Amino acid sequence: MGFFGNLFKKKEPVSNLTDLSGLEVDLHSHLIPGIDDGAKTLEESLILIKGLSDLGYRKIITSPHIMSGGYNNTPEIILTGRDTVRAAIKEAGINVEFDAWAEYYLDETIMPKIEQRRLLTMGDNYVLVELSYLMKSFSTTTYFYNLISNGYKVVLAHPERYPYYYSDGLDEYKMLKDQGVYFQLNISSLTGTYGQGARSTAEQLIDNNMVDFVATDLHNMRHLNYIRESVKLPYLEKVIGYEKLMNKAFL
Ligand SMILES: [Fe+2]
Repeated sequence: MGFFGNLFKKKEPVSNLTDLSGLEVDLHSHLIPGIDDGAKTLEESLILIKGLSDLGYRKIITSPHIMSGGYNNTPEIILTGRDTVRAAIKEAGINVEFDAWAEYYLDETIMPKIEQRRLLTMGDNYVLVELSYLMKSFSTTTYFYNLISNGYKVVLAHPERYPYYYSDGLDEYKMLKDQGVYFQLNISSLTGTYGQGARSTAEQLIDNNMVDFVATDLHNMRHLNYIRESVKLPYLEKVIGYEKLMNKAFL
């Protein structure tokens, strides 16, 4: 672009944030090495954890996948991994708290876990769940109902990433909220990492005051760079400024 092009180019608004310390807690990431598609080694875990600490987080609650046939993790595997990473954080002198729950893929395998009360939760009985990106399951609301009626509080991971819920007016999302589901937005959705649909839906959810938690869903270095980039986005500043944002409930 030439001189006149630059002169008349519309300036993108930029946030006043310098880091993510306003969130204090990150509650969605994949930082226990070798048990899912996140960090592969303890060394990589520590680099990513240091990256989050440098962005201002005080506490990291990581959330390995539990997905039948994909990642057959159990609460015991996750908590053992948490203890190993915790010890390594201390050894490395990184000043951040570290805990773990899980990201449950919601299918029929959730039912016996609800009955046996074997779900790994955080805070006041919150459980993090994800859905298929490709296909709407008509059982989803039944699983939500069973979780909620058994005393669990359901946090839906990245609601903006499920294209079958997109619609003018956010009708599907409003129905989920009416059912009592909490929404956890991915920060990097706002950068367009997951496509324009996810970005625009994330922005609409923020505009409509429908976001309860904001998290990184950090898997790797490339992803950490997107998170760093997101600090300048006005929509991130807007959602961090939400009075009702619940990240700190997990401090
Ligand atoms: Fe995740």
